[in-house]
Amino acid sequence: MSKHYFLQDKVVLITGATGGIGAATARELYSRGANLVLTDLSEPTGVALAAEFDPTRVLPLVLDVTDAAAAKAVVEQVVARFGRLDVVFANAGISWRGAPSSMVGCDEDEFERIVEVDFLGVWRTVKAALPQIVANQGQVVVTSSIYAFMNGMVNAPYAASKAAVEMLARALRAELAGTGATASVLYPGWIATPIAEVAFGGNALATQLVQTVFPAPLRAQITPDVVAAGVADGLAERRPRIVVPGRWAPLSLLRGLLAAASDAYLDRNRKVQALVRRIEAESRPTEFTPARRRSGPAPTT
Ligand SMILES: NC(=O)c1ccc[n+]([C@@H]2O[C@H](COP(=O)([O-])OP(=O)(O)OC[C@H]3O[C@@H](n4cnc5c(N)ncnc54)[C@H](O)[C@@H]3O)[C@@H](O)[C@H]2O)c1
Repeated sequence: MSKHYFLQDKVVLITGATGGIGAATARELYSRGANLVLTDLSEPTGVALAAEFDPTRVLPLVLDVTDAAAAKAVVEQVVARFGRLDVVFANAGISWRGAPSSMVGCDEDEFERIVEVDFLGVWRTVKAALPQIVANQGQVVVTSSIYAFMNGMVNAPYAASKAAVEMLARALRAELAGTGATASVLYPGWIATPIAEVAFGGNALATQLVQTVFPAPLRAQITPDVVAAGVADGLAERRPRIVVPGRWAPLSLLRGLLAAASDAYLDRNRKVQALVRRIEAESRPTEFTPARRRSGPAPTT
């Protein structure tokens, strides 16, 4: 396997393509000569993004990544249009709707929907694309997060899914070794896109929590085009890990120590604990309310 991977004329499928990181990466890969398959939930936004590019080099398609059959159908459409698929960027993701939540306080359906999109959606995208990726000695990139190795409190379904997709791609890379195809993990830090708004002003408690737990340099947001350049460089070099911004790279290498130190810090930090209780009180589903109001033991019937 030659080390350098040329993006010129490669066919790249992106999920969540009209979001902040997806669209920026589409523009970057296009500028390096790739043909684009832009998939997302909404047709009009996909078509609007596609209108930026030469129509002969772009195919916008609707894809909900939780639909395994639809993912396979999309790959068939890509092969029918371009004759091949070389790279899949499994990037679509969601977090809590509007406010963070603890596991005690969260809505179970919302928890499972996040896991379905962020973990199973990545798996279903990758599985659908793999026959083409292997046949063309191509690449898989999954969008994980620094939450793969940071404590995921009040963001558990998201963080657990990001840790899961990290392992998916690490295992896949090892399984593909020697075939010419490969897989890579993208670890964005805090990026200025809609998904991060909740922790950067969109919700007062989440914002306060981020300000308390993360030192200022680590919580400084960067723009999606920096991530996009990282993805393009990572693909060109077939890197196993793409950590953006780079200030997170030492922490990702020292993650074992970071886990022990940060979990101990969270065990004893009263300010953080008080914030978590307040987040929990605000997010507790209504069916739990009567039990909270009871002053004596639960009635036995
Ligand atoms: N912004 C950050 O700080 C940050 C940090 C780490 C990781 N990430 C990850 O980066 C990826 C891209 O997020 P972003 O920052 O561009 O946010 P974004 O909200 O702008 O983009 C997410 C995109 O995913 C799409 N999407 C949601 N559910 C989908 C589904 N079921 N099927 C298909 N598409 C779906 C949305 O329509 C949207 O276009 C996500 O996986 C996110 O978790 C973001």
